[in-house]
Order: sequence, then structure tokens, then C-alpha cells
Amino acid sequence: MIKLEKINKSFNNEIILKDISLEIDSSEIFGIVGLSGTGKSTLLKIMNGFLSPDTGLIYVDNILLSKDNKLDIVKKTATIFQEYNLLNNLNVIKNILLPLKVRGKINEDDILKARKLLEFINMSDFENSNIQTLSGGQKQRVAIARALITDPKIIFCDEPTSALDKENTNTILELLKNINNTFKTTIIIVSHDINVIKAITNKTAIITNGALEEIVTVKNKAINSLSYKEELLND
Ligand SMILES: Nc1ncnc2c1ncn2[C@@H]1O[C@H](COP(=O)(O)OP(=O)(O)O)[C@@H](O)[C@H]1O
Ligand SMILES: [Mg+2]
Repeated sequence: MIKLEKINKSFNNEIILKDISLEIDSSEIFGIVGLSGTGKSTLLKIMNGFLSPDTGLIYVDNILLSKDNKLDIVKKTATIFQEYNLLNNLNVIKNILLPLKVRGKINEDDILKARKLLEFINMSDFENSNIQTLSGGQKQRVAIARALITDPKIIFCDEPTSALDKENTNTILELLKNINNTFKTTIIIVSHDINVIKAITNKTAIITNGALEEIVTVKNKAINSLSYKEELLND
């Protein structure tokens, strides 16, 4: 689904990512874990097309990402963030419909689809609610519904639960797992929190000082080899 070959990125002559190569399978829940400032968000932004690498190649579905096809490929993905990035001047359903609105006119089917997604995130009663009246967990659920409205093949998540308490974190992680099961969406999740990574991912890349240290398969409990890092990774 995504293949990175020798990705390098510097900011102001400081090397941020060093020679990162990895492959993420279709329908996988793939983690990227590491300490704060180690380059996780930068790596995610290179995968989702927000940033270009200085050197290195990115393939999505075996197609080499280039200036010419980038927009079309990025359109098949969605990204959710720690801070939700919802628009406070629009109500819940208008936020969910926003990605379709920027692509063209909204029709009745779009509204029905948004209502189905509201049901999916268990927030049907909040269709016309003001964003400011929602809890953090509810805001993130709305952000997830907004991500789903364009039927993305890949959802990128940058610390999606880092602003949430334990209960809301679990709700969001269950929702992401449910999306992966229901729609077979590939999910790529960046987190500094080893518990989040253990709870949801199949495979995880450990990034240390901008380099890929190891890829661990979580299902096989190889993640236990991470335990020595657990303390380090807990903020
Ligand atoms: N746009 C930018 N300009 C300059 N430096 C940046 C920029 N984005 C990130 N950095 C730096 O790159 C390093 C890695 O940042 P980031 O990828 O956000 O790490 P993480 O997500 O692992 O916390 C940090 O030192 C950060 O200050
Ligand atoms: Mg980050």
C-alpha cells in the first residue's frame, strides 16, 4: 500500500529523517512510535503528501508519488490530528461534509452518507450541535467521520488520542479498529504512547533520532522487546 525508499529530510541544515525505508501492507494498522521530536510527524507528513522529502521515493499502491499525480493520490487519503482541526463556525454535520464541499456541490446522498457516519460514530443526536459544546472524545469522533466521508483508502493519524483521557482513548482506538475491520481501510498511526501502539497496531516502526530502529510485529508479542523502552516512551 505504501512503500518508502531511503527517505531523507532536513530542516535548516539539521537532519530530521535519515534513510528511512519501510513497507506498509494494505488493510494493516501500522504504528510509528518514538520519543517527542524524533521525526514521527515529519515522516507522516511525507507519507500523506503534506511535505516532500529531500531525497527518497514514495510509492502508494505501487505508483511512484510525483508532482503530477500527488493531488490525485492524496485525495484517496485522510488525516486526523491530536487537535481535531474542526471548524468551530460550522455545526457537526457541516464539518463532516466539508471535504465533499471543497470538491463540489453537496447533494441529498451526501447528507444521507453523513448521517450514516454520524450513526457509525454513535453521535446521531449531535447532527446540528455546535462544535464548542462537544467533549474532546466527541470532537475526535466527528473528525473521524469527516475523514471517512470521502471513502479514503488510507487514514493517517497523528497522535489522535494524545489530548484524551483513558476512556475516550479507548473509544477512539475501538472506533479505528472497527473502521479497519468494516472498510478495510489502511490505518497509519503515530504515537509516543506505547500503550496506544500495543492496543491497536499489527506492526510498528520504532523511530529513534530520525532513523528507523526496528519494525516489530505486535501480534507475535515481539513488541515485548520494546519493554525496555517503555519508560522512555511514557511522557
Ligand atoms: N517545519 C519545520 N521547520 C523546522 N523544523 C521542524 C519543522 N517541523 C519539524 N521540525 C523539527 O523536526 C524535528 C522532528 O519533529 P517532528 O517530526 O514533529 O517530531 P515528533 O512528531 O516525533 O515529535 C523537531 O526537532 C522539530 O523541531
Ligand atoms: Mg509529532
